[in-house]
Amino acid sequence: MRTKKVRTTDLREMKAAGQKITVLTAYDAIMARLLDSAGIDVLLVGDSLGMVVLGYETTLPVTMEEMLHHTRAVARGASTALVVADMPFLSYQVSVSEAVRNAGRFMKEAGAEAVKVEGGKGVLEVVARLVEVGIPVMGHLGLTPQSVHQLGGFRKQARDKEAARLLLEDARALQQAGAFSIVLESIPDEVAGEVSAALSIPTIGIGAGPFCDGQVLVGPDVFGLNDGYVPSFVKQYSNLREVIVAAAREYAREVREGEFPQPKRESEPVSTTPAREK
Ligand code: KIV
Repeated sequence: MRTKKVRTTDLREMKAAGQKITVLTAYDAIMARLLDSAGIDVLLVGDSLGMVVLGYETTLPVTMEEMLHHTRAVARGASTALVVADMPFLSYQVSVSEAVRNAGRFMKEAGAEAVKVEGGKGVLEVVARLVEVGIPVMGHLGLTPQSVHQLGGFRKQARDKEAARLLLEDARALQQAGAFSIVLESIPDEVAGEVSAALSIPTIGIGAGPFCDGQVLVGPDVFGLNDGYVPSFVKQYSNLREVIVAAAREYAREVREGEFPQPKRESEPVSTTPAREK
């Protein structure tokens, strides 16, 4: 079991050593503890929270308070994984000073160790200032869900030569501004490979093929918890939805039929510990 804390600086060393970086999204303490104990390197409190946990259609309505609340929970559950908080829509786009204040809240009030922002040239000033004040920043290029309406839906990006060239330019500029890594979402494998080879900071792919320096997926998609839309690039490693529904049905049946709980035997000592602490 890993005992050493993962730092943003470790990720660059992992890339240099050819060691793939593992990232999953997490939204609460119980999942953070499980993923941390599985040795996942980075827990991203993604603003996918809005769609996966809170039931919104897009990530746009997610608020700072919602993200802070869930980041606190993940930070409490993580012991060695690096905790990265996603900055929600309009928390960093209005002005550099608002971006610093909001990013600072994630570090100061919620226990995040880095933040993530979406976009290229439009966020360079913000990235540079955050890095200057000591806040590590993860970039995010390609399909940037906060721009879903401008992109015309959740669709693959950088599909032609010019768009791929602009993406590479953005990636280089983010690295230059001080980002410690960049998420590449839904872009062709070869474009992700070219960007990864051109940068010294690690790329973390999602729907971007095998040539990235690491991979990220949305936790509930991976574990088969999500009964809504799941992108085709996701590999589902388990079907917890079926496991949980079956367990809940069995519990309900036993309660209804008087099988659970069983009466205590006379000689059994009565515990004073609250049930959840046993
Ligand atoms: O919000 C999120 O979960 C993300 C990842 C999918 C990269 O941005």
